[in-house]
Amino acid sequence: MPILEKAGYNAFRIHATDVLIDLLTDSGTSAMSSNQWAGIMQGDESYAGSSSFFHFEASVKKITGMPLAIPTHQGRAAEKIIFTILGGKGKYFISNTLFDTTRANIEFSGAEGIDLLCEEGKHPTIPAPFKGNMDVEALRKTIKEKGAENIPMVMITITNNSGGGQPVSMQNIKDVRKVCTEYKIPLFIDACRFAENAYFIKLREAGYAQKSVLEIANEIFAYADGCTMSAKKDAFANIGGFLAMRDLDLAIRCRNLLIITEGFTTYGGLAGRDLEAIAIGLQEVLDENYLQYRIRSIEYLTNKLIAAGVPVMQPAGGHAVYIDAKEFLPHIPVHQYPGQALVCALYLEGGIRTVEIGSLMFGKYAIPEEGSDGERKLVPAQMELVRLAIPRRVYTQSHIDYVSEVIIDVFQKRNEISGLVITEETPMLRHFTARLQPVTAS
Ligand code: F0G
Repeated sequence: MPILEKAGYNAFRIHATDVLIDLLTDSGTSAMSSNQWAGIMQGDESYAGSSSFFHFEASVKKITGMPLAIPTHQGRAAEKIIFTILGGKGKYFISNTLFDTTRANIEFSGAEGIDLLCEEGKHPTIPAPFKGNMDVEALRKTIKEKGAENIPMVMITITNNSGGGQPVSMQNIKDVRKVCTEYKIPLFIDACRFAENAYFIKLREAGYAQKSVLEIANEIFAYADGCTMSAKKDAFANIGGFLAMRDLDLAIRCRNLLIITEGFTTYGGLAGRDLEAIAIGLQEVLDENYLQYRIRSIEYLTNKLIAAGVPVMQPAGGHAVYIDAKEFLPHIPVHQYPGQALVCALYLEGGIRTVEIGSLMFGKYAIPEEGSDGERKLVPAQMELVRLAIPRRVYTQSHIDYVSEVIIDVFQKRNEISGLVITEETPMLRHFTARLQPVTAS
Protein backbone atom coordinates (compact mmCIF):
# COMPACT_ATOMS: atom_id res chain seq x y z
CA MET A 1 0.00 0.00 0.00
CA PRO A 2 1.39 3.48 -0.78
CA ILE A 3 2.92 5.15 2.27
CA LEU A 4 0.52 8.11 2.35
CA GLU A 5 -2.54 5.94 2.08
CA LYS A 6 -1.25 3.64 4.81
CA ALA A 7 -0.66 6.70 7.01
CA GLY A 8 -4.25 7.89 6.50
CA TYR A 9 -2.94 11.01 4.74
CA ASN A 10 -1.59 12.16 8.10
CA ALA A 11 2.13 13.07 8.19
CA PHE A 12 2.33 12.22 11.91
CA ARG A 13 1.64 8.60 10.97
CA ILE A 14 4.49 8.34 8.45
CA HIS A 15 7.59 6.48 9.67
CA ALA A 16 10.62 8.79 9.92
CA THR A 17 12.67 6.42 7.78
CA ASP A 18 10.25 7.14 4.95
CA VAL A 19 10.98 10.89 5.15
CA LEU A 20 13.74 12.62 3.19
CA ILE A 21 13.67 16.12 4.71
CA ASP A 22 11.81 16.32 8.01
CA LEU A 23 10.28 19.74 8.61
CA LEU A 24 7.42 18.45 10.77
CA THR A 25 8.75 20.33 13.76
CA ASP A 26 11.72 22.21 15.21
CA SER A 27 10.89 20.65 18.57
CA GLY A 28 13.44 18.24 20.01
CA THR A 29 14.91 17.80 16.53
CA SER A 30 17.80 20.23 16.79
CA ALA A 31 21.41 19.06 16.77
CA MET A 32 22.93 19.32 20.21
CA SER A 33 26.39 20.85 20.42
CA SER A 34 29.55 19.06 21.54
CA ASN A 35 29.31 21.09 24.75
CA GLN A 36 25.79 19.83 25.38
CA TRP A 37 26.90 16.24 24.75
CA ALA A 38 29.83 16.77 27.11
CA GLY A 39 27.34 18.07 29.69
CA ILE A 40 25.24 14.96 29.20
CA MET A 41 28.24 12.82 30.10
CA GLN A 42 28.58 14.78 33.33
CA GLY A 43 24.91 14.57 34.33
CA ASP A 44 24.42 14.07 38.05
CA GLU A 45 21.71 11.44 38.44
CA SER A 46 21.10 11.92 42.16
CA TYR A 47 17.41 11.66 42.93
CA ALA A 48 17.30 14.87 44.95
CA GLY A 49 19.35 18.07 44.84
CA SER A 50 21.63 17.03 41.95
CA SER A 51 24.30 19.47 40.81
CA SER A 52 22.71 19.30 37.33
CA PHE A 53 19.52 20.78 38.80
CA PHE A 54 21.39 23.71 40.30
CA HIS A 55 23.19 24.28 37.01
CA PHE A 56 19.78 24.26 35.26
CA GLU A 57 18.23 26.56 37.87
CA ALA A 58 21.07 29.10 37.57
CA SER A 59 20.79 29.07 33.77
CA VAL A 60 17.01 29.70 33.89
CA LYS A 61 17.50 32.46 36.46
CA LYS A 62 20.16 34.20 34.38
CA ILE A 63 17.72 34.54 31.48
CA THR A 64 14.35 34.99 33.18
CA GLY A 65 15.37 36.56 36.48
CA MET A 66 12.75 34.30 38.04
CA PRO A 67 13.73 32.78 41.37
CA LEU A 68 11.62 29.62 41.15
CA ALA A 69 12.40 27.15 38.35
CA ILE A 70 10.50 23.88 38.12
CA PRO A 71 11.72 21.28 35.60
CA THR A 72 9.19 19.27 33.58
CA HIS A 73 9.61 16.63 30.91
CA GLN A 74 8.45 19.02 28.18
CA GLY A 75 6.43 22.19 27.61
CA ARG A 76 3.00 20.63 27.80
CA ALA A 77 3.78 19.08 31.18
CA ALA A 78 4.42 22.59 32.51
CA GLU A 79 1.12 23.66 30.90
CA LYS A 80 -0.76 20.74 32.44
CA ILE A 81 0.47 21.70 35.90
CA ILE A 82 -0.22 25.42 35.74
CA PHE A 83 -3.62 25.10 34.05
CA THR A 84 -4.75 22.34 36.41
CA ILE A 85 -4.03 24.72 39.27
CA LEU A 86 -5.37 27.95 37.76
CA GLY A 87 -7.95 26.61 35.30
CA GLY A 88 -11.40 25.07 35.69
CA LYS A 89 -14.92 25.76 34.53
CA GLY A 90 -15.83 29.42 34.17
CA LYS A 91 -12.21 30.58 33.76
CA TYR A 92 -10.71 32.27 30.71
CA PHE A 93 -7.09 32.42 29.56
CA ILE A 94 -6.27 35.19 27.11
CA SER A 95 -3.38 35.08 24.67
CA ASN A 96 -2.07 36.46 21.39
CA THR A 97 -2.40 32.88 20.09
CA LEU A 98 -2.31 29.77 22.24
CA PHE A 99 -0.35 26.83 20.85
CA ASP A 100 -2.42 23.67 20.31
CA THR A 101 -1.22 21.81 23.43
CA THR A 102 -1.61 24.96 25.52
CA ARG A 103 -5.19 25.43 24.38
CA ALA A 104 -5.86 21.72 24.90
CA ASN A 105 -4.56 21.84 28.48
CA ILE A 106 -6.71 24.89 29.19
CA GLU A 107 -9.80 23.22 27.73
CA PHE A 108 -9.03 19.93 29.46
CA SER A 109 -9.23 21.78 32.79
CA GLY A 110 -12.72 23.01 31.81
CA ALA A 111 -11.58 26.57 31.12
CA GLU A 112 -11.69 28.47 27.85
CA GLY A 113 -8.81 29.91 25.80
CA ILE A 114 -9.24 33.20 23.95
CA ASP A 115 -6.87 34.35 21.17
CA LEU A 116 -6.64 38.10 20.62
CA LEU A 117 -4.13 38.44 17.80
CA CYS A 118 -3.54 41.92 16.37
CA GLU A 119 -5.12 42.69 13.00
CA GLU A 120 -1.78 42.61 11.08
CA GLY A 121 -1.24 39.06 12.26
CA LYS A 122 -4.37 37.84 10.50
CA HIS A 123 -3.18 38.63 6.97
CA PRO A 124 -0.45 36.15 6.07
CA THR A 125 0.91 37.77 2.95
CA ILE A 126 0.98 41.41 4.15
CA PRO A 127 4.28 42.11 5.93
CA ALA A 128 4.55 43.95 9.27
CA PRO A 129 7.38 43.87 11.84
CA PHE A 130 5.51 42.44 14.84
CA LYS A 131 2.62 40.33 13.62
CA GLY A 132 2.64 38.28 16.83
CA ASN A 133 1.38 41.20 18.95
CA MET A 134 -1.71 40.96 21.07
CA ASP A 135 -4.60 43.32 20.38
CA VAL A 136 -4.45 45.37 23.58
CA GLU A 137 -7.79 47.11 23.06
CA ALA A 138 -9.48 43.74 22.57
CA LEU A 139 -7.74 42.55 25.75
CA ARG A 140 -9.29 45.39 27.78
CA LYS A 141 -12.68 44.73 26.25
CA THR A 142 -12.52 40.98 26.93
CA ILE A 143 -11.44 41.52 30.55
CA LYS A 144 -14.42 43.83 31.08
CA GLU A 145 -16.74 41.34 29.40
CA LYS A 146 -15.57 38.21 31.23
CA GLY A 147 -14.60 39.84 34.55
CA ALA A 148 -10.99 40.09 35.77
CA GLU A 149 -11.81 37.65 38.60
CA ASN A 150 -12.47 34.94 35.99
CA ILE A 151 -9.16 35.43 34.19
CA PRO A 152 -6.37 33.72 36.12
CA MET A 153 -3.69 34.56 33.55
CA VAL A 154 -2.84 36.37 30.34
CA MET A 155 -0.25 34.49 28.28
CA ILE A 156 1.93 35.86 25.48
CA THR A 157 3.46 33.29 23.13
CA ILE A 158 6.90 34.35 21.84
CA THR A 159 7.39 33.95 18.98
CA ASN A 160 3.78 33.31 18.01
CA ASN A 161 4.09 29.78 16.67
CA SER A 162 0.51 29.16 15.51
CA GLY A 163 0.37 32.69 14.08
CA GLY A 164 3.31 32.17 11.73
CA GLY A 165 6.33 32.27 14.05
CA GLN A 166 5.93 36.03 14.14
CA PRO A 167 7.55 38.08 16.92
CA VAL A 168 5.93 40.17 19.65
CA SER A 169 7.37 43.65 20.26
CA MET A 170 8.69 44.83 23.61
CA GLN A 171 6.19 47.68 23.42
CA ASN A 172 3.33 45.20 23.11
CA ILE A 173 4.61 43.16 26.08
CA LYS A 174 4.84 46.41 28.09
CA ASP A 175 1.31 47.45 27.08
CA VAL A 176 -0.13 44.05 27.99
CA ARG A 177 1.73 44.21 31.31
CA LYS A 178 0.14 47.58 32.04
CA VAL A 179 -3.36 46.20 31.49
CA CYS A 180 -2.57 43.10 33.57
CA THR A 181 -1.29 45.26 36.43
CA GLU A 182 -4.41 47.44 36.26
CA TYR A 183 -6.68 44.40 36.59
CA LYS A 184 -4.32 42.40 38.86
CA ILE A 185 -4.04 39.52 36.38
CA PRO A 186 -0.74 37.59 36.25
CA LEU A 187 1.14 37.71 32.94
CA PHE A 188 2.93 34.57 31.78
CA ILE A 189 5.18 34.12 28.76
CA ASP A 190 5.13 30.98 26.64
CA ALA A 191 8.86 31.22 26.14
CA CYS A 192 9.69 28.31 23.78
CA ARG A 193 11.32 30.64 21.23
CA PHE A 194 12.30 33.56 23.46
CA ALA A 195 15.74 34.05 21.90
CA GLU A 196 14.43 34.22 18.34
CA ASN A 197 11.84 36.76 19.52
CA ALA A 198 14.50 38.78 21.37
CA TYR A 199 16.66 38.84 18.25
CA PHE A 200 13.76 40.17 16.17
CA ILE A 201 13.32 42.95 18.76
CA LYS A 202 17.00 43.78 18.37
CA LEU A 203 16.63 43.94 14.59
CA ARG A 204 13.30 45.70 14.31
CA GLU A 205 12.41 47.74 17.39
CA ALA A 206 13.78 51.22 18.01
CA GLY A 207 16.17 51.44 20.95
CA TYR A 208 17.28 47.80 21.00
CA ALA A 209 19.93 47.57 18.26
CA GLN A 210 22.77 48.08 20.75
CA LYS A 211 21.39 45.75 23.42
CA SER A 212 22.48 42.14 23.72
CA VAL A 213 19.94 39.34 23.24
CA LEU A 214 20.43 38.48 26.93
CA GLU A 215 19.58 42.04 27.97
CA ILE A 216 16.50 41.99 25.76
CA ALA A 217 15.40 38.61 27.12
CA ASN A 218 15.92 39.88 30.67
CA GLU A 219 13.66 42.85 29.92
CA ILE A 220 10.95 40.65 28.37
CA PHE A 221 10.84 38.38 31.42
CA ALA A 222 11.00 41.34 33.83
CA TYR A 223 7.45 42.24 32.70
CA ALA A 224 6.17 38.71 33.43
CA ASP A 225 5.08 36.91 36.57
CA GLY A 226 6.01 33.53 35.18
CA CYS A 227 6.67 31.47 32.11
CA THR A 228 6.27 28.04 30.59
CA MET A 229 9.01 26.72 28.37
CA SER A 230 9.58 23.82 26.08
CA ALA A 231 13.36 23.35 26.13
CA LYS A 232 12.99 21.36 22.92
CA LYS A 233 13.04 24.59 20.93
CA ASP A 234 15.38 27.46 21.82
CA ALA A 235 17.30 25.39 24.38
CA PHE A 236 18.33 22.88 21.66
CA ALA A 237 17.45 19.94 23.93
CA ASN A 238 15.91 16.72 22.65
CA ILE A 239 13.59 16.66 25.65
CA GLY A 240 12.69 18.92 28.57
CA GLY A 241 10.86 21.98 29.71
CA PHE A 242 10.13 24.06 32.76
CA LEU A 243 7.89 26.42 34.64
CA ALA A 244 9.43 29.50 36.21
CA MET A 245 7.73 32.08 38.41
CA ARG A 246 8.06 34.64 41.17
CA ASP A 247 5.15 33.68 43.46
CA LEU A 248 6.25 31.16 46.09
CA ASP A 249 2.72 30.04 47.01
CA LEU A 250 1.95 29.24 43.39
CA ALA A 251 5.30 27.46 43.03
CA ILE A 252 4.55 25.28 46.06
CA ARG A 253 1.23 24.24 44.53
CA CYS A 254 2.96 23.51 41.21
CA ARG A 255 5.66 21.47 42.93
CA ASN A 256 3.05 19.40 44.79
CA LEU A 257 1.43 18.49 41.50
CA LEU A 258 4.85 17.97 39.91
CA ILE A 259 5.69 15.30 42.49
CA ILE A 260 2.49 13.42 41.65
CA THR A 261 2.82 13.59 37.87
CA GLU A 262 6.44 14.27 36.88
CA GLY A 263 8.87 13.53 39.67
CA PHE A 264 10.71 15.17 42.54
CA THR A 265 11.11 18.95 42.45
CA THR A 266 14.75 18.89 41.38
CA TYR A 267 14.33 16.70 38.33
CA GLY A 268 10.70 16.95 37.11
CA GLY A 269 10.34 14.27 34.48
CA LEU A 270 13.97 14.50 33.42
CA ALA A 271 17.28 12.75 33.92
CA GLY A 272 20.11 14.83 35.39
CA ARG A 273 21.86 14.69 32.01
CA ASP A 274 18.83 16.32 30.33
CA LEU A 275 19.00 19.18 32.85
CA GLU A 276 22.66 19.69 31.87
CA ALA A 277 21.77 19.81 28.17
CA ILE A 278 19.09 22.44 28.86
CA ALA A 279 21.34 24.51 31.12
CA ILE A 280 23.99 24.68 28.39
CA GLY A 281 21.57 25.08 25.46
CA LEU A 282 19.81 28.03 27.09
CA GLN A 283 23.10 29.94 27.09
CA GLU A 284 24.21 28.81 23.61
CA VAL A 285 21.06 30.19 22.00
CA LEU A 286 22.02 33.71 23.10
CA ASP A 287 24.92 33.65 20.60
CA GLU A 288 24.04 36.38 18.12
CA ASN A 289 26.08 34.86 15.30
CA TYR A 290 23.97 31.74 15.61
CA LEU A 291 20.73 33.76 15.75
CA GLN A 292 21.75 35.78 12.70
CA TYR A 293 22.36 32.55 10.76
CA ARG A 294 19.11 31.07 12.05
CA ILE A 295 16.84 33.99 11.15
CA ARG A 296 18.63 34.55 7.85
CA SER A 297 18.20 30.94 6.73
CA ILE A 298 14.43 31.05 7.29
CA GLU A 299 14.36 34.33 5.36
CA TYR A 300 16.38 32.73 2.53
CA LEU A 301 13.75 30.04 1.93
CA THR A 302 10.88 32.52 2.35
CA ASN A 303 12.41 34.89 -0.23
CA LYS A 304 12.97 32.10 -2.75
CA LEU A 305 9.31 31.15 -2.49
CA ILE A 306 8.12 34.76 -2.73
CA ALA A 307 10.21 35.21 -5.89
CA ALA A 308 8.41 32.20 -7.43
CA GLY A 309 5.00 33.62 -6.52
CA VAL A 310 4.25 31.09 -3.77
CA PRO A 311 1.97 32.68 -1.14
CA VAL A 312 3.88 32.61 2.15
CA MET A 313 3.57 34.33 5.50
CA GLN A 314 5.49 37.60 5.35
CA PRO A 315 7.88 38.59 6.65
CA ALA A 316 9.76 35.36 7.45
CA GLY A 317 9.14 34.00 10.94
CA GLY A 318 11.74 32.83 13.44
CA HIS A 319 11.70 29.06 13.18
CA ALA A 320 9.62 28.18 10.15
CA VAL A 321 8.26 29.13 6.77
CA TYR A 322 4.47 29.17 6.58
CA ILE A 323 2.68 28.67 3.28
CA ASP A 324 -0.79 30.18 2.96
CA ALA A 325 -2.68 27.11 1.78
CA LYS A 326 -5.93 29.01 1.21
CA GLU A 327 -4.19 31.06 -1.47
CA PHE A 328 -2.04 28.20 -2.73
CA LEU A 329 -5.09 25.97 -3.29
CA PRO A 330 -8.05 28.31 -3.76
CA HIS A 331 -10.07 25.55 -5.42
CA ILE A 332 -10.14 23.47 -2.19
CA PRO A 333 -12.77 24.66 0.33
CA VAL A 334 -11.72 24.86 3.99
CA HIS A 335 -13.88 21.88 4.97
CA GLN A 336 -11.71 19.79 2.62
CA TYR A 337 -8.56 20.89 4.47
CA PRO A 338 -6.40 22.66 1.86
CA GLY A 339 -3.47 22.78 4.32
CA GLN A 340 -3.45 19.03 4.81
CA ALA A 341 -3.86 18.49 1.06
CA LEU A 342 -0.70 20.54 0.56
CA VAL A 343 1.16 18.63 3.30
CA CYS A 344 0.38 15.42 1.39
CA ALA A 345 1.37 16.89 -1.98
CA LEU A 346 4.78 18.03 -0.65
CA TYR A 347 5.43 14.59 0.78
CA LEU A 348 4.40 12.86 -2.41
CA GLU A 349 6.48 15.13 -4.62
CA GLY A 350 9.70 15.30 -2.61
CA GLY A 351 9.52 13.24 0.59
CA ILE A 352 9.29 16.45 2.61
CA ARG A 353 7.31 16.21 5.83
CA THR A 354 5.53 19.37 6.98
CA VAL A 355 2.59 20.12 9.25
CA GLU A 356 -0.82 21.70 8.76
CA ILE A 357 -1.66 24.60 11.07
CA GLY A 358 -5.21 25.26 10.01
CA SER A 359 -8.62 23.72 10.32
CA LEU A 360 -7.41 20.15 10.84
CA MET A 361 -5.45 21.36 13.87
CA PHE A 362 -7.77 24.07 15.17
CA GLY A 363 -11.14 23.50 13.47
CA LYS A 364 -14.12 22.80 15.71
CA TYR A 365 -17.60 21.50 15.04
CA ALA A 366 -20.57 23.74 15.73
CA ILE A 367 -23.26 22.00 17.75
CA PRO A 368 -26.08 21.23 15.25
CA GLU A 369 -29.09 23.49 15.65
CA GLU A 370 -32.38 21.97 16.65
CA GLY A 371 -34.43 20.96 13.65
CA SER A 372 -31.35 20.86 11.39
CA ASP A 373 -30.39 17.66 9.56
CA GLY A 374 -27.98 16.95 12.42
CA GLU A 375 -24.90 17.24 10.26
CA ARG A 376 -21.95 18.79 12.08
CA LYS A 377 -20.66 21.99 10.56
CA LEU A 378 -16.95 22.82 10.66
CA VAL A 379 -16.02 26.13 12.27
CA PRO A 380 -12.73 26.72 10.48
CA ALA A 381 -9.49 28.08 11.93
CA GLN A 382 -8.51 31.71 11.36
CA MET A 383 -5.88 30.72 8.77
CA GLU A 384 -5.01 27.66 6.69
CA LEU A 385 -1.22 27.42 6.96
CA VAL A 386 1.36 24.76 6.21
CA ARG A 387 4.44 25.05 8.37
CA LEU A 388 7.92 24.07 7.31
CA ALA A 389 9.70 24.10 10.66
CA ILE A 390 13.47 24.09 10.36
CA PRO A 391 15.31 22.07 13.02
CA ARG A 392 18.20 24.07 14.51
CA ARG A 393 21.74 23.36 13.35
CA VAL A 394 20.65 20.41 11.15
CA TYR A 395 20.05 21.21 7.48
CA THR A 396 22.40 22.90 5.01
CA GLN A 397 21.68 25.40 2.25
CA SER A 398 21.53 22.57 -0.34
CA HIS A 399 18.76 20.86 1.61
CA ILE A 400 16.85 24.12 1.70
CA ASP A 401 17.41 24.67 -2.04
CA TYR A 402 15.92 21.22 -2.66
CA VAL A 403 12.92 22.07 -0.48
CA SER A 404 12.26 25.25 -2.44
CA GLU A 405 12.49 23.37 -5.76
CA VAL A 406 9.93 20.81 -4.59
CA ILE A 407 7.50 23.49 -3.37
CA ILE A 408 7.79 25.41 -6.62
CA ASP A 409 7.16 22.22 -8.64
CA VAL A 410 4.06 21.49 -6.60
CA PHE A 411 2.93 25.11 -6.99
CA GLN A 412 3.12 24.78 -10.76
CA LYS A 413 0.74 21.84 -10.74
CA ARG A 414 -1.44 22.93 -7.84
CA ASN A 415 -4.65 22.54 -9.83
CA GLU A 416 -4.20 18.76 -9.79
CA ILE A 417 -4.33 18.60 -5.97
CA SER A 418 -7.63 17.57 -4.44
CA GLY A 419 -9.11 18.04 -0.96
CA LEU A 420 -9.43 15.54 1.88
CA VAL A 421 -12.17 14.29 4.17
CA ILE A 422 -11.68 12.98 7.70
CA THR A 423 -12.54 9.32 8.20
CA GLU A 424 -11.35 8.94 11.81
CA GLU A 425 -10.68 11.50 14.56
CA THR A 426 -10.43 12.07 18.31
CA PRO A 427 -12.25 14.86 20.20
CA MET A 428 -9.02 16.67 21.23
CA LEU A 429 -5.80 17.35 19.28
CA ARG A 430 -7.25 15.31 16.44
CA HIS A 431 -4.53 16.29 13.95
CA PHE A 432 -1.99 13.99 15.61
CA THR A 433 -3.90 10.80 14.94
CA ALA A 434 -6.72 11.53 12.49
CA ARG A 435 -7.13 9.51 9.29
CA LEU A 436 -8.21 11.16 6.06
CA GLN A 437 -8.78 10.24 2.44
CA PRO A 438 -8.88 12.20 -0.80
CA VAL A 439 -12.29 13.58 -1.69
CA THR A 440 -12.01 11.86 -5.06
CA ALA A 441 -11.80 8.47 -3.35
CA SER A 442 -14.93 8.94 -1.24
N1 F0G B 1 4.12 26.27 23.31
C1 F0G B 1 4.53 26.49 22.04
C2 F0G B 1 4.51 27.86 21.47
C3 F0G B 1 4.98 25.40 21.26
O1 F0G B 1 5.38 25.62 20.02
C4 F0G B 1 4.99 24.10 21.84
C5 F0G B 1 5.40 22.95 21.06
C6 F0G B 1 4.57 23.94 23.16
C7 F0G B 1 4.14 25.07 23.86
C8 F0G B 1 4.56 22.60 23.83
O2 F0G B 1 5.84 22.15 24.09
O3 F0G B 1 6.11 20.08 22.70
O4 F0G B 1 7.59 20.53 24.64
O5 F0G B 1 5.24 19.91 24.99
N2 F0G B 1 5.51 22.97 19.83
C9 F0G B 1 5.96 21.90 18.94
C10 F0G B 1 5.81 22.34 17.52
C11 F0G B 1 5.43 20.56 19.23
O6 F0G B 1 5.93 21.50 16.62
O7 F0G B 1 5.63 23.54 17.29
P1 F0G B 1 6.20 20.58 24.09
